[in-house]
Amino acid sequence: MRARVLSGMRPTGALHLGHYHGALKNWVRLQHEYDCFFLVADWHALTTHYAEREVIERNVYDMVVDWLAAGLDPDLCTLFIQSRIPEHAELFTLLAMGTPLRWLERVPTYKDTLAQAGERDLATYGFLGYPLLQAADILVYKAAFVPVGDDQDSHVELTREVARRFNHLHDRAVLPEPQTLHTEVGRLPGLDGRKMSKSLGNAIGMREAPAEVEAKIRTMPTDPQRVRRTDPGDPARCPVWPLHEVWSDDATRTWAREGCTSAGIGCLDCKQPVIDAVLREQAPWRERAEQWLANPKHVHWIVEMGTERARTVARQTMKDVRDVMGLSY
Ligand code: TRP
Ligand code: SF4
Repeated sequence: MRARVLSGMRPTGALHLGHYHGALKNWVRLQHEYDCFFLVADWHALTTHYAEREVIERNVYDMVVDWLAAGLDPDLCTLFIQSRIPEHAELFTLLAMGTPLRWLERVPTYKDTLAQAGERDLATYGFLGYPLLQAADILVYKAAFVPVGDDQDSHVELTREVARRFNHLHDRAVLPEPQTLHTEVGRLPGLDGRKMSKSLGNAIGMREAPAEVEAKIRTMPTDPQRVRRTDPGDPARCPVWPLHEVWSDDATRTWAREGCTSAGIGCLDCKQPVIDAVLREQAPWRERAEQWLANPKHVHWIVEMGTERARTVARQTMKDVRDVMGLSY
């Protein structure tokens, strides 16, 4: 039997190239090697967006379409929605009983996000408990591996601690400790050189129209010291360069570097191969998405089947958990 992998994403908006390179591309590869479970973490989205129901509602199926467009194949992996499986909440509750408060308070993402919360009130019980809910997501499937970016390391570490403590308290190895599977390209640069992120406004959507993609890249800032076409530039100062590092081959990079430093090419010339590469990458996504969007019932059915499959596993784990906790009456 193939080892089980579990990962998830919060449905907080249309997915962009950062989601693809940071996670989805890896998921598409993993589905051939492991028994993969991918969840729409809608409860997780509520830990921060608890007052914005329409945002999440709209995003759930958009995200599933993005996943399918990227190449996740429902015959190979299980796609499902967290909130449809009450066993996640049950395990979260039971794990909460023995989890020391300080384990949650010291999670770095907790402090960081609280500090950047702005006007959103995140001094909530749900937000503090977020990583424990994630632990329940993972442990309820007894997942061996969790593919996540390094920003989520501390959550997987907490999951391991929680599992260890549970097994120790009940004197039985019920919940296996999962391992992190790191994603190759952790941070995809955005249009301004910072990490691509919707909130920074520097993202290119996975299914954004070609004309918009082209316009966004053409208007990207370049080396600030290359004011005129005749000024030589330095790729090290230019936010376009990291994009060449992701999308261009060695020959293109050599051409761009030489053209830039000798003022042999203009910035629009330099950007063209990146534009072409991004559009080429997006083409199959657009094609697949069109088919799924033309058939929304099929998408719902895929999620329905995935949810049933996931729930069967989650039910079995909860039976084991209730047994060892003395709740089987
Ligand atoms: N916390 C993850 C994020 O914000 C999403 C997530 C929820 C997740 N449950 C998970 C990731 C379980 C991996 C495993 O991106
Ligand atoms: Fe940047 Fe390319 Fe222009 Fe050089 S030529 S400044 S690398 S966009």
